[in-house]
Amino acid sequence: MLILGIETSCDETGLALLDSERGLLAHALHSQVEMHVAYGGVVPELASRDHIRRVLPLLDTVLADAGCALGDIDAIAVTTGPGLAGALLVGASVGHALGYALGKPVVGVHHLEGHLLSPLLAEPAPTFPFAALLVSGGHTQLLSVRGWGRYELLGETLDDAAGEAFDKTAQLLGLGYPGGPAVSRAADFGTPDALKLPRPMLHSSDLDFSFSGLKTAVLTAVKRQGGSNVCEQARADIARAFVDAIVDVLATKSMRALEDTGFGTLVVAGGVGANRQLRERLAIETAARGARVFFPPLPLCTDNGAMIALAGLAKLRRIDVATLPKAPSFSVRPRWPLAEAAA
Ligand code: KG4
Ligand code: ZN
Repeated sequence: MLILGIETSCDETGLALLDSERGLLAHALHSQVEMHVAYGGVVPELASRDHIRRVLPLLDTVLADAGCALGDIDAIAVTTGPGLAGALLVGASVGHALGYALGKPVVGVHHLEGHLLSPLLAEPAPTFPFAALLVSGGHTQLLSVRGWGRYELLGETLDDAAGEAFDKTAQLLGLGYPGGPAVSRAADFGTPDALKLPRPMLHSSDLDFSFSGLKTAVLTAVKRQGGSNVCEQARADIARAFVDAIVDVLATKSMRALEDTGFGTLVVAGGVGANRQLRERLAIETAARGARVFFPPLPLCTDNGAMIALAGLAKLRRIDVATLPKAPSFSVRPRWPLAEAAA
């Protein structure tokens, strides 16, 4: 089965063609980062308009790269939430219009289910069951994953997401948007233990997180170092202290999730999963416990169409295609708990 994945939930237009037998045939992406950078964050209306411009040319690209024609597509998967309403509607409209024109089924996919399953596109791929650390710009969750569609929330952030904390720290340090990679690079030049930042909820007995206090601590540290005049070394030291703190919390709670579930495999997904310091720490900690850790390939960590095609395949396996509406009929869910993704 050849499945087309369409992702337009935020600031990346991603399309992919995934074959259930042969694997990922092609994927193409347009990032809007350069367009939003002037505003210091994503401008929803600009995001929607850009998705409209990009989505069909990217469809041509993946078809050409995979050597396929439109008529070869057997099903279409499109992100229908969570995300920006207007941006989601672009992908959903295009996906459903294509499905109607081709007479093929269209399934709406949960964006986080895509992230969660993206490590399965790696070689070697993890096997079920596993604990998953989902760390993106909007979400930070620990989940128990027992199989396709069998996801149980173990803990989540009570306030800011890890990616949001990276982005806000970058903003406070004058490192621009998006902040994750810039903070990570700056931290490499920081002196270890030049300052220590709080590790919120590190010792709480649950698997929840809280990062808003860490953000406030970064703000205080920046002010102490002269605010926007913060010098290069102080900036690197603060970035280093921030990365050390957030990685410590994420790694400690991930190990606790492995202990609580009894699983021997940890899977890391979402944009922050691209972070080198987090990857290194989790590799060390899991090895010390005789557990295994899997990361998606770097290009598939952040938003992309391949993970949506894979989540679509998972959904097509668990639903009755005959129950899908024949005429285009769809809605998007800007807010959508992952626990409700299976339906
Ligand atoms: O998963 P994603 O592409 O989008 C959402 O679904 O939110 O994640 C984007 C987030 C941003 O906050 C970005 O700063 C962060 O992932 N990110 C990183 C790195 N690369 C992306 N954070 C830390 N280190 C990185 N290398
Ligand atoms: Zn995402």
